[in-house]
Amino acid sequence: MTVTIVGSQLGDEGKGRVVDLFGGDVDVVVRYQGGDNAGHTVVHGGTEYKLSLVPSGVVRGKVGVLGNGCVVNPATLFEEIDKLRDRGLDPDVRVAERAHVILPYHRVLDGIEEDVKSEGDLAAGTTGRGIGPTYEDKAGRRGVRIGDLLDPEILRERLEYVVPQKKALAEDVFGIETDEAFDVDALFEQYREFGERIADENMAVDCGTFLAERVAEGDELMMEGAQGTSIDIDHGIYPYVTSSNPTTGGACTGTGLPPTTVGQGEVIGIVKAYTSRVGTGPLPTELGGVEGQTPDYEGDQPADEEELATFIRDEGGEYGTVTGRPRRVGWLDMPMLRHAARVNGFTAIAVNHVDVLAGLDEVKVGHSYTLNGEEIMTMPATTEKWGECEANFRSFDGWEDVDWTDVETWEDIPENARTYLDYVSEQLDAPVMTVGCGPDRNDTVVLDDPF
Ligand code: IMP
Repeated sequence: MTVTIVGSQLGDEGKGRVVDLFGGDVDVVVRYQGGDNAGHTVVHGGTEYKLSLVPSGVVRGKVGVLGNGCVVNPATLFEEIDKLRDRGLDPDVRVAERAHVILPYHRVLDGIEEDVKSEGDLAAGTTGRGIGPTYEDKAGRRGVRIGDLLDPEILRERLEYVVPQKKALAEDVFGIETDEAFDVDALFEQYREFGERIADENMAVDCGTFLAERVAEGDELMMEGAQGTSIDIDHGIYPYVTSSNPTTGGACTGTGLPPTTVGQGEVIGIVKAYTSRVGTGPLPTELGGVEGQTPDYEGDQPADEEELATFIRDEGGEYGTVTGRPRRVGWLDMPMLRHAARVNGFTAIAVNHVDVLAGLDEVKVGHSYTLNGEEIMTMPATTEKWGECEANFRSFDGWEDVDWTDVETWEDIPENARTYLDYVSEQLDAPVMTVGCGPDRNDTVVLDDPF
């Protein structure tokens, strides 16, 4: 069977915790979208591993597959594999022949376009990894795929077609000086070598066939979504989105497994007990603000809101893993979650960071929005309308801070926190499978097991 893990908010919900928790029972862990924009930390055998591309399950000795829906930077791929090997592991990583390759010019163009967009208010605050430009080339039918790296003739043909276009774009449209990132010969040499290594290590797979065979053999598969529903290219807050489908549908198109297979399994929505966001765009339940990310932020939000935001940010460690920049934070946004539950078809939810809110007298949730004088229960389809939504808050009594390492069962969770969790579960019509109660992966109350 398959278990699909999907972020229900804006990314950084703590998907890794759930992947880790149930990963021991899994045979194959598959990523179905995104690339090295994903940053996750895995703790195994007391050692911490930081990965951004390789599926985290490989740390536990599972087969890790990068599905055809992923965009793969081979430099990152091998850097991560080599680091794992240096630490004594023997990672088994497979890459879909149909997955697209991130080339150096994609990263350069990602940076330039963000700079240009930031002159208005369109910048998505991308991770700068070339994700968007690579998916653009995929849709534009000018991309280079993993399978192409294995065939030097095809690789050269593809590069000779696309690189001059990219060079002209960079030089003539954006007016920058180009270097080796835009040089066919240099790229050919480097990427041919990557292809040789992929072939030598027998990493390339026809993803759909490979996975279908594993399912037929009775293997347990975990589909590991990156990012979150509200930054899905189709169902998120366009244009402040990533360029792929983190939602459940992406688990089908991004692997080659049919909806009938994925739909027979579990779909676990990962929910952070409050809202956090990296990047620009509206955020109706936001508390306080962050300069450069919160639209029109001038630091004049009410002091008590800023204080609450700082409390949540510090308790929850809401600072970018790579950049260290503060994340925007806010109360839980129920219209956003109802939208996620509908799009993804959650069979259960895993709620994380419940301990972060402990000690507050009052915990609020954005229960609904008011848009044009009407109450709405889910997100509107355009980001402009979303920006006009005002959150209608519901208030819950806060819960006390306890020694969360002692919290092992549902009954151990403070009563007011259980009331909050029951409300979320009932609104989303999905049972709570796990509750994250502390920074350590062991601080998780497990109410049910998907396998
Ligand atoms: P990109 O994925 O680098 O193109 O960035 C597009 C948007 O998605 C930006 O707002 C990023 O901050 C956001 N984003 C990308 N990856 C993640 C993630 O793993 N967590 C949270 N936000 C992300």
